[in-house]
Amino acid sequence: MKLVILKIGGSVVTNKFSKKPRASFKNLRIVSKEIASAYNLKKMPLLLIHGAGSFGHLIVKKTGIDKGIKNIKQLKAFAETQRLQNKLNLIVMQFLISENLPVISYQASAGAVMRSGRLVQMDISTLKGLLEIGMIPVLYGVPAYDENQKCSILSGDQIAGFLAKKLNAKIIMHGTDVGGVFTEDPHLDPSATLIPEINSKNIDQVKKYLRGPIQVDVTGGMIGKISEIIKSGVRGQVFNALNPGNIHKALNGEKIGTTIEVIKN
Ligand SMILES: Nc1ncnc2c1ncn2[C@@H]1O[C@H](COP(=O)(O)OP(=O)(O)OP(=O)(O)O)[C@@H](O)[C@H]1O
Ligand SMILES: [Mg+2]
Repeated sequence: MKLVILKIGGSVVTNKFSKKPRASFKNLRIVSKEIASAYNLKKMPLLLIHGAGSFGHLIVKKTGIDKGIKNIKQLKAFAETQRLQNKLNLIVMQFLISENLPVISYQASAGAVMRSGRLVQMDISTLKGLLEIGMIPVLYGVPAYDENQKCSILSGDQIAGFLAKKLNAKIIMHGTDVGGVFTEDPHLDPSATLIPEINSKNIDQVKKYLRGPIQVDVTGGMIGKISEIIKSGVRGQVFNALNPGNIHKALNGEKIGTTIEVIKN
């Protein structure tokens, strides 16, 4: 069976509108139960990623470390952003483990090299081994070492694309707070309509609909997700993980939300 990569967005695992880091225990409980029920049914090789929401994004926006390090204060912000993301990861892991999932944290910035915001190097042999023995690695967006600008943000969206390509995944799934890709950000325009499939025929039109998020998001919101999926050359899917049952359906192979077919550039 080919690998499934599921990213649960920061808009699901945290309260993204909060001005302080705040995890959503209610959502985490539901998400973990659904992942466990689908996993116990299929036992597919699975790699999980979670986003940042009100943990990582706010401090990065305030201190500008995504654009590089220019002073000592920013070095401390680099450290604090990493701590906040580690803290969120511990909370997420507590919920996943309480559902008896064989999950293991993998802190991507410990071995990642970035170049002007793009991930250029990350050893995947540990992840491969962990998957082979039946573990579910859990990665998360992190501030990482950057050769050109000292620090940049390695988003969960970018990790998903990079690993999907390297590990020859079947699909990248994004569970987020909207029902897929719409003709306009549905938070801004509730009359926007869902685009069920993005393919090489409609991609140019769809690009005009994609916006950054209304909440603080330093890694591009929906634009970031779709462009990373396209760069990876692996199929993608975006769905609303806040609707009960959707994670289970997606992991079960159902076509919900928007699917992104492989688009050759
Ligand atoms: N055309 C569009 N269709 C759907 N959503 C859109 C569109 N344009 C912009 N968006 C925004 O993209 C957001 C989802 O991306 P975002 O990066 O905020 O989510 P996330 O992955 O859950 O969070 P995080 O980056 O913290 O992990 C939606 O909440 C919506 O506001
Ligand atoms: Mg985002």
